[in-house]
Amino acid sequence: MTTKRAATPPTTNKHLIRWVEKMADLTQPSAIHWIDGSQAEYERLCDQLVAAGTFFPLDDKKWPGCFYARSAPNDVARVEDRTFICSLSRDNAGPTNNWVEPHEMHRKLKQIFRGCMRGRTMYVMPFSMGPIGSPMSQIGVQLTDSAYAVVNTRIMARIGKQVFAEIDKDKKRVVPCMHSVGAPLAPGQKDVPWPCNDEKYIVHFPETREIWSYGSGYGGNALLGKKCFALRIASNIARDEGWMAEHMLILGVESPPNAAGNTEKTYIAAAFPSACGKTNFAMLIPPAGFEGWKVTTVGDDIAWIKPDAHGQLQAINPEAGFFGVAPGTSKRTNPNAMITLSRNSIFTNVALTVGTDGKPDGGIWWEGMTDTPPAQLIDWRGKHWTPASKTPAAHPNGRFTAPAAQCPSIDRDWEKPHGVPISAFLFGGRRPTTIPLIYQAFNWSSGIYTGATMGSETTAASGAPAGKVRRDPMAMLPFCGYHMGDYFRHWIKMQRSLSVTPRIFHVNWFRKDENGRFLWPGYSENMRVLKWIVDRIHGRVRTKETPIGWTPYFEDIEWTGLDIPKAELRATFEQLQRVDTAAWKREVMDHEELFIALHDHLPAEMIYERELLICRL
Ligand code: OXD
Ligand code: MN
Repeated sequence: MTTKRAATPPTTNKHLIRWVEKMADLTQPSAIHWIDGSQAEYERLCDQLVAAGTFFPLDDKKWPGCFYARSAPNDVARVEDRTFICSLSRDNAGPTNNWVEPHEMHRKLKQIFRGCMRGRTMYVMPFSMGPIGSPMSQIGVQLTDSAYAVVNTRIMARIGKQVFAEIDKDKKRVVPCMHSVGAPLAPGQKDVPWPCNDEKYIVHFPETREIWSYGSGYGGNALLGKKCFALRIASNIARDEGWMAEHMLILGVESPPNAAGNTEKTYIAAAFPSACGKTNFAMLIPPAGFEGWKVTTVGDDIAWIKPDAHGQLQAINPEAGFFGVAPGTSKRTNPNAMITLSRNSIFTNVALTVGTDGKPDGGIWWEGMTDTPPAQLIDWRGKHWTPASKTPAAHPNGRFTAPAAQCPSIDRDWEKPHGVPISAFLFGGRRPTTIPLIYQAFNWSSGIYTGATMGSETTAASGAPAGKVRRDPMAMLPFCGYHMGDYFRHWIKMQRSLSVTPRIFHVNWFRKDENGRFLWPGYSENMRVLKWIVDRIHGRVRTKETPIGWTPYFEDIEWTGLDIPKAELRATFEQLQRVDTAAWKREVMDHEELFIALHDHLPAEMIYERELLICRL
């Protein structure tokens, strides 16, 4: 429903209606459209985006229902240096977040949002993070002048009428999310395909649970339900209410049926920093030698985890789609993702394939999709590209937005209102040296230390230069909406509400040999590690104790199906698992850097764990 001003809003919530009016007065859109979330509305908005040059429809035979978009070159990733946590006190935001005094920030935002939607439509988009009606779900309303943000959010979250009904029924608290690309149009001014502003602000007010995003139309900056709400604001709500909002995938491991026909299902949540293969791991297909085993996907990026009445942690995926990094995704690395994204998906900043006439032929490509690149393409900047070109055809942070329900490995309980039971947490990063393939933490607090001190080489998703190791506690560095030291304390305190404490493991698929070659093949072979983890969870295998934690015996890993002589396998495994004390001493010194920054909020348990580790080394 598009009107100049709200006619009969599809909600009876007076606060919401008043807020929409107030924000329309501030931003001065030429029309207001209350999102109903229907397929017809989605199609109309996509047509509009095609007419505006933002969307390019792909060939309906090759890519049914899919669209292609290319962003402005200065709007390609989350902008961590422009992301703010504006808590009342600076101390609450902590040293790992940018902070501005909230009144000052509100003044600034009022100033930049004044008239920022002129010449554009303001969409009123209610969304539910989590299945509609789940007691674990949370509701937001995003006001946005970006139709691109709306159609992507329709894939990533549950939006529209059904959410207005929830708001009206339960009078649930709504998180207000303001979003503008910051590109008002003067009367008669022609629009550009990707409007945005050089000045960007991604702002969170934790106490009032508000989000304001300005200047960007891309990914986590614009799809506010994802990083802004489901992690930064939700981490605050979770701390206050005694649950956890984590940057974690959720997967299920199902064993083949036993003699009685019963299978064993184990759910695991895993935190890896951005672009470390979370989506691939969440959709893993077991390799040869694992006949009858199944890995099922509940989520690939975010987990909301709550203790149930029996003290068992239950997790939901608050999202409804995958916003995955496209480069590197292929039929070989992630066949399930390729099937998921094969229809009804949106591709941003990948390359377009062309016909012999050099014109787009309705196909797309990205680095790694096929071993041999096409002879010519149109790259993510819209330029002619050949394999001899010096720059990649797809932006390294080019993305697909695809419905989770289309994933062949989607778990049968992925939308279960009360979630799935979590038996273990996995932490991991991209570490070329020092960190073994797999080890288990000794207990809850040493596991928290393991997560708190994890690090990873940076990648394109963070907007930072790639290839440097940065500490990324629980993969939450850019996403924890309050003081990181208090976040560790919250983890420690969670144990009090649990009757069964999940086991904690650390994995590193990225260890390299002295010649810089990966020692571990990764991808589906990670199943071998996953099975050992499941065996540990159920107390079926013994372990070797090392200074950093418990590690597997070679014999306890399932090696069937690998065509490599046992002796060679054993040697590689030893290399992968090696705990080099000298390197670990340096590693522990590195931990101190983060701990010094957090010192006045650091729980004593973290100091003890560090001391214990040093003693063991
Ligand atoms: C993401 C990220 O986009 O973590 O998921 O950066
Ligand atoms: Mn992520």
